[in-house]
Amino acid sequence: MSSGAQGLARPVVWVTRRLPEVVEAALSARFDVRLNSRDVPLDAEGLRRAFREADAVLPTVTDRITAECFTQPERRARLVANFGVGVNHIDLAAARGASVAVTNTPDVLTDDTADLAILLMLSVLRRAGEGERLLRAGNWKGWSPTGMLGARLTGRTVGIIGLGRIGRAVAARARDGFGMRVLAWSRSAAPSSAAADGIERVASLDELLERSDLVSLHCPATPATRHLIGAAQLARMPRHAVLINTARGDVVDEAARVAALESGTIAGAGLDVFEAEPTVHPGLLGREDVVLLPHLGSATFETREAMGMRAVANLDAFFAGAPLPDAVIDS
Ligand code: 8YV
Repeated sequence: MSSGAQGLARPVVWVTRRLPEVVEAALSARFDVRLNSRDVPLDAEGLRRAFREADAVLPTVTDRITAECFTQPERRARLVANFGVGVNHIDLAAARGASVAVTNTPDVLTDDTADLAILLMLSVLRRAGEGERLLRAGNWKGWSPTGMLGARLTGRTVGIIGLGRIGRAVAARARDGFGMRVLAWSRSAAPSSAAADGIERVASLDELLERSDLVSLHCPATPATRHLIGAAQLARMPRHAVLINTARGDVVDEAARVAALESGTIAGAGLDVFEAEPTVHPGLLGREDVVLLPHLGSATFETREAMGMRAVANLDAFFAGAPLPDAVIDS
């Protein structure tokens, strides 16, 4: 352990993946940092070791932070400063039980994730992936009046599931950018038909599914939302409807979604997240009516730096004994 300016030992922080340079520099300026130079996800023992060696661990979505990380007797870590807003990869009950604080990085990734949801909507409806594959394969025979026609996004109805920051940002883009009707459903939002923000809160998930041309998922992954969209829910959607997922893979029953696409129950899907990342259901890979992205929601230079600096702010506050800016669990 190295020494700080006054000769005091600096807190040890284990960073499980390589982060943008400015973030690593900010971390190194403040803490005794342990970096995972190989930049591949740590295995279970590697993660447990990080919790034994460091005062705080800075993990990402690729780390499974299990109960054993928190319950092992030699644990030293008292804070998990997650890089990302979703915390479903962390056993929160175990963290709470062990009085380990958990923070995340909200706000800074809202716009980029909302942009990506719109990108997926346009890509599926306008057949962008299919067109690009055709062209790259050398199979484009030239423009034609009836070639590769898609559906218009402007003026359609989008149903938003989960009306938090990202759900609202998607709603604003759809409403203001594309003149779309916006419906929303979440467990907490009371139904209302004439909300000032132009978003109609529907009374039930079934109603949202039945009335939407596109359904976009923006709820967190929790035990309550696991497979929220399964075969019965997909069957409620109109046959021309499209499902967009930039939230978490396990909110949708992936096998049921493949079956719904195969049977024509829904018309397409735009997916940035999957149930068992980086594995993707083989039934999706050959389909032209789906657009598949490798979890790119927050993947801009600006946002990844901002996420890192938000984690740094949480670490700073924790070691200064100040209130945590983004507490998921206060210690
Ligand atoms: C990140 C995300 O890429 O923040 C989240 O929850 O899904 C993504 O924006 C990922 O979490 C990084 O750990």
